[in-house]
Amino acid sequence: MDKVALITGGSSGIGFEIAKKLAEKKYSIIITGRNLEKLQKAADNIRSLYNADVEAFSSDTTDEESLKKIFLQIKAKKEKLDMLILNAGSVSTKLVSEYANTKDLKREIDINLWGTILATYIFLPLLNKGGKILLISSAFGLMGAAGYTTYCASKAGVINFADALRRELLNKEISVHVACPSDIDTPMYRKEYKNMPEWMKKDARGAAMKPEKAADIILKKCFKNKFLIILTADILSLILLIKLTPIRFKNYILDKIFPIPD
Ligand SMILES: NC(=O)c1ccc[n+]([C@@H]2O[C@H](COP(=O)([O-])OP(=O)(O)OC[C@H]3O[C@@H](n4cnc5c(N)ncnc54)[C@H](OP(=O)(O)O)[C@@H]3O)[C@@H](O)[C@H]2O)c1
Repeated sequence: MDKVALITGGSSGIGFEIAKKLAEKKYSIIITGRNLEKLQKAADNIRSLYNADVEAFSSDTTDEESLKKIFLQIKAKKEKLDMLILNAGSVSTKLVSEYANTKDLKREIDINLWGTILATYIFLPLLNKGGKILLISSAFGLMGAAGYTTYCASKAGVINFADALRRELLNKEISVHVACPSDIDTPMYRKEYKNMPEWMKKDARGAAMKPEKAADIILKKCFKNKFLIILTADILSLILLIKLTPIRFKNYILDKIFPIPD
């Protein structure tokens, strides 16, 4: 029987490319996302490329009822999961003081952190022994950047959630992995870059990586059983700087590298 992978936010960007790579490896694929038309297009695309078994479920990852419905449909088919990929996410580029209301202020925490925890809680009972949980955080989960305040908080939460979950599941033969990409050329990234204020563009970020390449690196490292998945050498150097140098020195360097509002 084929292995099965469920990918939240599998209709575009990194999630879609991960879904394609797993379909190529003969996994049956389940993708979720909010926009049904986009999901169906993505599912048709994966089926036609790899002759794969693909199911698409419309669901907001913060909506408990829609996740439970998917759980019940998978269970009714007596399917189990071999990979659970918590990828659905959202980003805004605003200063804390610029949010018009607290609903918007809480959006990244709701989708990126709570949505990840909720989907893990709902789908965990479906995981096979030997299964893998892969969470997609961000390099901004490892460091704070002005204008990404709530995003950084949500993604840091995902990393610590993954670390604690990894320890909880040590005796259950389920491994946990967390990926921390930096700029990846997806619809989210392009919208983020277009909408960001000018002061945020004055930084030393290089060209964004293609999502196919990001998915390839993430999956290779995940199958090599790496817990913390870092995609590029520049982010690895930043992490070493953050972890190994005194805070004052780290802040001195990062305050020079990262853009700061007037
Ligand atoms: N691109 C980057 O530079 C970058 C860097 C670091 C980390 N990441 C992380 O990588 C993940 C994927 O991002 P991406 O760049 O590939 O974005 P993307 O191309 O916009 O894809 C996001 C996917 O998530 C789905 N989604 C968004 N909100 C959702 C919600 N509330 N419930 C269910 N599905 C939802 C989207 O479909 P619908 O809109 O139809 O729901 C889509 O399938 C995110 O967690 C992001 O934070 C991205």
